[in-house]
Amino acid sequence: MSEVAINYDESLAGDHPLPSALLRPTGGRVSSAVEWYNRRRPEILADFERIMYGKIPPRPETVRPERLSEVTDALGGKATRREIRLHMEGPCGVHFLDILWYLPNHVNKPVGAIAGINFQGNAACTDEDGIRPTVNFKSEAPQQHRWQIPMLIDAGFSVATCCRNDLFPDRADGRAESIYKMFHPASELGAANRDLTAISAWAFGCSRLLDLLETEPRIDARRIWVHGHSRLGKTALWAAANDSRFAGAVSNDSGCCGAALDRRDFGETIAKITETFPWWFPAALDAYAETPAALPFDQHMLIGLIAPRPVLVASATEDLWADPRGEFLSARAAGEIYRLFGSDGISGCEFPAPETPVFGDGVGYYLRTGKHDVTATDWKFVLEFIRRTMTV
Ligand code: GCU
Repeated sequence: MSEVAINYDESLAGDHPLPSALLRPTGGRVSSAVEWYNRRRPEILADFERIMYGKIPPRPETVRPERLSEVTDALGGKATRREIRLHMEGPCGVHFLDILWYLPNHVNKPVGAIAGINFQGNAACTDEDGIRPTVNFKSEAPQQHRWQIPMLIDAGFSVATCCRNDLFPDRADGRAESIYKMFHPASELGAANRDLTAISAWAFGCSRLLDLLETEPRIDARRIWVHGHSRLGKTALWAAANDSRFAGAVSNDSGCCGAALDRRDFGETIAKITETFPWWFPAALDAYAETPAALPFDQHMLIGLIAPRPVLVASATEDLWADPRGEFLSARAAGEIYRLFGSDGISGCEFPAPETPVFGDGVGYYLRTGKHDVTATDWKFVLEFIRRTMTV
């Protein structure tokens, strides 16, 4: 394996100009939201699909939710907890997905919701006992701190999650056991078929969580957000870019091929990520490993694909691998797209000090002190941002 050098010196990060999201490849400049939506946005979405993330499979022909359990006095009576098994069937086969879902008991009107994929299995997201172990994951290191379910319930939000490995086991040969087996014969599910990516499989999972949430009368379908950390933060942005039912997206420490700019050489790079995690991306991305400045997009355009819906980008001070400044710069640059919709994003802002969020119209950013993780402090900022952007 070649040695990919990693830079942490800001003065060597490079100063490549960003491509403008508004310039059409065929010439001309987009100047209205309608032109953006009808002409430019589909071009950018297609480029991201082809080069960086692959295509998210459609909703399968059959999706049947089975309620495996319901506890109406979960979390000491604060919440209703459900485990739902989605039985899905596509043209080439079947797959099932287990979802852990909490709803607040104390709110008498439809609530907002957070949907997100988890790393370590559903049982690892809560302190409560009796959650079914995730089928495709053995070690269940506790990650309750990443979900803060009691805090979200107290704030009046519902939360639904499922495990990444139940969608696409997170390894080079995971494709064979992934959701793609519903859509492709086994002969197309080998490690070499990189067009069927893990990130699009996980994003597919976000949309299935949304399908479930939006049918529940206790939930306000206009206020369902997608949230993700790290590789699942990349996923959350891609899911929201493709599924306009999401009210907004939160990318926590999503880094390279997430919120962070591709053209900066700081922390993880496309050369490194495609070498380590080839199953996350189409093979087309490898061609840009040494030449990220040749990409027809940068990550501010991924955020812009979600506009005018709000996007919150979160970084952590010690998470240099994810390039906090690169995440901020792309969140800020997305302002050129939000402006078409009459909001400025965070265009006038400078890289902020830790714990000092810059929350604009449509785009928000903050830097948390600490490591690559999701903490109660993160959720405090997330809830603040969601509340301020809520228009319904
Ligand atoms: C690795 C990877 C990152 C990713 C992270 C995670 O560090 O290099 O790109 O975001 O794992 O998902 O935790």
